[in-house]
Amino acid sequence: MAQQNMTLLRHVLTRKPSKLPTDDLALILERIEVIGKRISHELARASLRGELGFTGETNIQGEEEKKLDEWTNWVFLDTFERGDPVCSLISEEMEQAEHRAGTCRGSSYAVLFDPLDGSSNTDINGSLGTIFSIRKRAPNHAESIEDILRPGDEQVAAGYILYGPGTQLTFTAGAGVDIFTLDPMLDQFVLWRESVQMPRRGSTYSVNHGNITKFHPGVRKLIEHMTSRKDKSSSYSLRYTGAFVADFHRCLLEGGLFMYPGEISADGKSKGKLRLMYELEPMSFIAEQAGGRASNGKKRLLEVKPQALHDRQPVYIGSAEEVELAERSNVEG
Ligand code: AHG
Ligand code: MN
Ligand code: MN
Repeated sequence: MAQQNMTLLRHVLTRKPSKLPTDDLALILERIEVIGKRISHELARASLRGELGFTGETNIQGEEEKKLDEWTNWVFLDTFERGDPVCSLISEEMEQAEHRAGTCRGSSYAVLFDPLDGSSNTDINGSLGTIFSIRKRAPNHAESIEDILRPGDEQVAAGYILYGPGTQLTFTAGAGVDIFTLDPMLDQFVLWRESVQMPRRGSTYSVNHGNITKFHPGVRKLIEHMTSRKDKSSSYSLRYTGAFVADFHRCLLEGGLFMYPGEISADGKSKGKLRLMYELEPMSFIAEQAGGRASNGKKRLLEVKPQALHDRQPVYIGSAEEVELAERSNVEG
């Protein structure tokens, strides 16, 4: 079959088994696909429409909110307005979950998302992303979210959309990782790579070096080793875009390590920046499904039990060999 004939929906409906029933997966991904197209088209002309810059507000993370953070969050809420089988929407930009009472019969799901990842790149036409995680809700959950505050191993599907020179959607539903490219002529996500395998090792690492004085000595030792250039195993190049989605995508395709270490504060405690439930868990699910690894420096990120929706963790994610090297370097003490 010609590749442009394998659209995202056709792929979901005709291919592999997954961690959730095919019709539920298709219904949810059909909405995500609409969201990806809406955001992709708008980002392409955002500079001309006065949509760059800040809103003047601070979001629940204490970060200055970009106009596009707010708008992309609204796109999720709007597109999932009648979101059956999705009952709960949980976002980086909203303190509480939003529930869609009455839309769910039978099975129901929560979508957790970072609507716009890498938002410091909005004003310079840099790469951006959207990250999503799908969880099944417990029967009779009402508005409680206790059933969702569970380790990331309980996700049933996850993915991200990268808005780069081209727009690509990567997802897993527990049966490997597939990547689709938005064909602008067809306005359809079309299969590009199926059952992607992350190389066991890579030649790049990604980290914000500007924070190096705040990292644990183990991280500094790791970076010293990776840049000592004694041999091939200690010769890495740095790549860092400021968008987790873009940096992770490089690791997925070419191997390597992305890290956002914990930063040691005055009380001596180390705290991560990236959010567990809608940034790290979905990417960890994808990494493992592609044969890579994801750790907080001490354990698998998918085994960490969140205490609250907006919890943060340190992250070391990418090729199996580099993530093992990070853990062996006692990066988090
Ligand atoms: P977001 O734009 O959703 O807040 O995420 C930004 C994240 C992530 O995309 C990126 O890897 C990291 O923050 C960049 O942070 P620094 O500017 O601190 O390096
Ligand atoms: Mn983000
Ligand atoms: Mn964001």
